[in-house]
Amino acid sequence: SWTPDNFVDMTVDVLREQVGDDKVVLALSGGVDSTVAAVLLHRAIGENLHCIFVNNGLLRKNEFETVLKRYEGMELNVKGVDASGRFLGALAGVSDPEEKRKIIGRTFIEVFDDEAHKIKDVKWLGQGTIYPDVIESVSVNGPSATIKSHHNVGGLPDFMKLKVVEPLRMLFKDEVRRVGASLDIDPAQLGRHPFPGPGLAIRILGDITPEKVRILQEVDDIFISGLKSWGLYDRVWQAGAILLPVDSVGVMGDERTYEKCVALRAVESTDGMTADWVNLPYDFLQKTSNDIINRVKGVNRVVYDISSKPPATIEWE
Ligand code: XMP
Repeated sequence: SWTPDNFVDMTVDVLREQVGDDKVVLALSGGVDSTVAAVLLHRAIGENLHCIFVNNGLLRKNEFETVLKRYEGMELNVKGVDASGRFLGALAGVSDPEEKRKIIGRTFIEVFDDEAHKIKDVKWLGQGTIYPDVIESVSVNGPSATIKSHHNVGGLPDFMKLKVVEPLRMLFKDEVRRVGASLDIDPAQLGRHPFPGPGLAIRILGDITPEKVRILQEVDDIFISGLKSWGLYDRVWQAGAILLPVDSVGVMGDERTYEKCVALRAVESTDGMTADWVNLPYDFLQKTSNDIINRVKGVNRVVYDISSKPPATIEWE
């Protein structure tokens, strides 16, 4: 019968056989799938696995530094590439959600291609593709999926001429988590909520500026740290904050203010295809709202999204 330990043993053998002494390049997203794929590959081929972790400037607060440290602690051979300026530059003035996604996908491929070129004689592209990604093209979390969804766009970048190795191709998400546990990956890493590849870009409705990214990172950080410290994080499938493109009136002392409004969203789900909003405790919402309004300059109103999917999607864009 299938057990995570058997899967690891068998897959490590198969990978060694398949890849031999070749080099593999893999894009880490910080999420569960690419991390488990990387650790498996590392166990099989060691330093011949070259990982790249790109900061697109749209990650959560301090995420780039924190995740990079964690990867280094796992002894992965990982290169952090801070391309924030390149992404935010390419996105300047763009409001259309699909256009934002395209720009992010394209920029990611350019950055990854540049980096992959710096690795001599690389033969394989490692990807954290899991079974649901294989069967539904709509399930697109993480850079590996970003790569796939661009397969048929114009001339292929050089790294796409590489052979593809996808050790998790036959697994469902819960199996990936169990394999991760069998590889001794930190449970906190394995229990992370899904986070969309385009990151905060699709949670800033309308055009993106560095200032809006900063505001949303602060708000999101207060919300997510709060969920953790109140013991609510694991009850939620995915959570995040959305920066709305409206200013609303507030008062501060004798003055009227005209500042940003943010929405908080937390959902329960099994696969993201359907989702229910989570009945978070009023005390928690009250504390979180106060913390956000008191601590994040430029925000004077917080709302909680009580819409289920369908018909509302999880993301607002
Ligand atoms: P929706 O908003 O469609 O989201 O209900 C379902 C799941 O997909 C994630 N999502 C994305 N992930 N690139 C991604 O990698 C995207 O463009 C994208 N759009 C939505 C969303 O976070 C949720 O987990």
